[in-house]
Amino acid sequence: MTFLPHRPRRLRRLPALREMVAQTTIKPAQMVLPVFVREGHVSPKPVSSLPGVSQHSLESLDTVVDEAIEAGLAGVMIFGIPLERDDTGDQALSESNILHEAVRQASTRARGRLAVMADVCLDEFTSHGHCGVLNASGSVDNDLSTSLYGRMAVSLARAGADVMGLSGMMDGQVGVVREALDAAGYVDTVILAYSAKFASSFYGPFRDAVESSLEGDRTTYQQDYRNPREAKKEILLDLEQGADIIMVKPAWSYLDILRDAAQMSDVPMAAYVVSGEHAMLESAATQGIVDRQAAIRELLLSVRRAGADVIFTYWALEAASWTKEEQW
Ligand code: PBG
Repeated sequence: MTFLPHRPRRLRRLPALREMVAQTTIKPAQMVLPVFVREGHVSPKPVSSLPGVSQHSLESLDTVVDEAIEAGLAGVMIFGIPLERDDTGDQALSESNILHEAVRQASTRARGRLAVMADVCLDEFTSHGHCGVLNASGSVDNDLSTSLYGRMAVSLARAGADVMGLSGMMDGQVGVVREALDAAGYVDTVILAYSAKFASSFYGPFRDAVESSLEGDRTTYQQDYRNPREAKKEILLDLEQGADIIMVKPAWSYLDILRDAAQMSDVPMAAYVVSGEHAMLESAATQGIVDRQAAIRELLLSVRRAGADVIFTYWALEAASWTKEEQW
């Protein structure tokens, strides 16, 4: 036999040894479940392009919150889908809209046993589907949009949201929202900044889930995926403005960005496994191309390995159940 002092296979021989030296893990408390709640539904309605995910009714939202608590998840991120939309997205500020209703109900149900998170963005409320308000020439008005986010965050905090998900990619949004929240006394409300959110083709099923009416694209506000340096700038700006958590989105095609961000950030990192990534894997599994559970596990762990403390995933409940059965 060849003399080989270093034989890495020694530590791979037994499952117990492999477990002993495993560097990356995932706990339910590190996952957040995105939840869609649609006005007017009486029962959940599956989203056809997003396997395993439904638009919930206010009634079924309670069940989801109970399941998320039972599973030990970190939280639920709520997206509201209203029946009516308009040009200005004004309805986003209404305390009686579906997002506020859902947040209020989830917060009452949860009683602090998980974090209720709310999407602070106008795209579900505007008839043109953009994340902000349009000016006379039809482009998204940055500062007008951020001032609306500030007001929206305050009313969502009043409704009981613990965490504000700032997904609009407007310049200065973190600072404006922090100031508005503090001025209203919500100094402990957490800001989750979608700092490095790219103009991605992987948001397709989400747009079906929220019945988006977007025409065109979001390339004037979401980042160009060719530019890692710009992602660093966005992250630094959000840190300066007081972001409590930094998010990279999507996840799998952006693990390099996530790794860099984790190294430069002095706050926790999050990553969002988005709808298109989810749907691609489900589709591959349905076609027998990959072993579904093994592939989900490998991909979620890759996001943790790259540096995410928290993962937003539509598989959160299911993946949490595997950790209980020790199938990780
Ligand atoms: C915008 C928002 C989007 C997603 C989360 N928040 C869509 C977009 O930017 O077009 C996408 C999430 C997913 O694809 O799962 N409020």
